[in-house]
Amino acid sequence: MCGEAIVFSNKPKGVTLEGGVEYYLCACGRSKDGVFCDGSHKVTSCLPKKVVVEDTRQYHICMCKSSKNFPFCDGTHSQYSDKDVGGTVFGD
Ligand code: FES
Repeated sequence: MCGEAIVFSNKPKGVTLEGGVEYYLCACGRSKDGVFCDGSHKVTSCLPKKVVVEDTRQYHICMCKSSKNFPFCDGTHSQYSDKDVGGTVFGD
């Protein structure tokens, strides 16, 4: 987790990723769609997470930017309420 990340959403998002394709997932919570890096992290020290999946299918992408298995959801979003969305991620 990047300490400067913000909570994009307190729910994961189902996103279809293609096997063998290199993706850069947004870890800062500031990209336009909250899923893929669009360069918005430049105002932070956060970096996108590169991921290549084996299977083409839908994955639950972490949108709270706090998963210990980032970029995949591990349930950590349950610690955030609606009022935490847009705020800084909680530390460990
Ligand atoms: S825009 Fe969020 S990591 Fe690049």
